Amino acid sequence: MLIAHLSDLHISAGPPETAPVRRDAPDMARLIVADLMALPQRPDAVLITGDVADGGSVADYDLVRRILAPLSMPVMVVPGNHDRRGPMREAFGGMVPYASPDALSAGTLHFEAHVAGARIIGLDSLVPGRVEGVLDTAQLDWLEHRLATGTAPVFLMLHHPPFPTGNAHWDASALQKGRERLGQIVQACPAPVRLLCGHVHQAFHTQWAGGYAAVGGSPAFQYGFGFDERAEPPLIDAPYAWWMHHQRTNGSFAVHPRVVTLPSRNDLPR
Ligand SMILES: [Fe+2]
Repeated sequence: MLIAHLSDLHISAGPPETAPVRRDAPDMARLIVADLMALPQRPDAVLITGDVADGGSVADYDLVRRILAPLSMPVMVVPGNHDRRGPMREAFGGMVPYASPDALSAGTLHFEAHVAGARIIGLDSLVPGRVEGVLDTAQLDWLEHRLATGTAPVFLMLHHPPFPTGNAHWDASALQKGRERLGQIVQACPAPVRLLCGHVHQAFHTQWAGGYAAVGGSPAFQYGFGFDERAEPPLIDAPYAWWMHHQRTNGSFAVHPRVVTLPSRNDLPR
C-alpha cells in the first residue's frame, strides 16, 4: 500500500494572506498533482496534513477542489491554522468522513477511514485565530477508544507536530495542549502508528512516542535548516519533496521522498 503525504499547499483564490507564500502557490499544487498522477505506481490515498487553503474562504476551497480534482484516489485532509472549519467541511465533507458537527460541540473535523488495509485517522488541532494548535479532550477520548483495538497500521494525520522540531520559533507554535496524552495513546496502541504532520514548512522525519513521525514540508514556501533556539529559520528556494509511505502486508514500512522541481522564486532576500 502506498500513501502520499503532502502538506501546507496554502492555495488561495486571491492574493495570499500569509507573507512568505509564493504568488503562484496554486500552480505549484497543480504541478504536484500532475507529477503524482504521472507516477507509474500511484498511491492508494493522498493525505494532506493541513493548511490546504491560505485564507480559508469558500472561493479558496472551491479552487482547492478544482486543483485536486485530477487525483483519482481518495484524498483526505485535516485542518491547519490557516484553514476554516465551515468552508472546509462544505468542500471536503463529501470525500472525507468527518465526524458529525453534532457529535462534539466544537464541530472538529476528525475522522476515521479505511484504505487498502490501513486505517487513516485525522485529528483537528485548529484553534480559530491562533497559530499554535490544541487537541481537545473530546477528540483525545475518541482517539483513545479508536486506537485501543485493531492491528492494521494506522496513519494518524495532525497538522501541529506534538514533537520538537529543533527550532524554538516553531516549537512555540506547535501543539500546545494534548501532547502528553496523545503520546500515551499512541504508545499504548497495539498497531503501528505513523504520525503525519505539517505546519513547519520543512520536510523531516523523527521518532516520537515509540513510532515513526513525519513533517510533510510545503510547496508554497520552504524553510531551510535553522537549529536555533531563537530565530525563525531562513526561507529557501529549493526543490520540494513530499513523502511516499510504503506499507507492505508483511509489516515492512519504508518512506521515499518524491522530489519535484519548482520554478525558482525571485522574491526572497539574498
Ligand atoms: Fe502552513
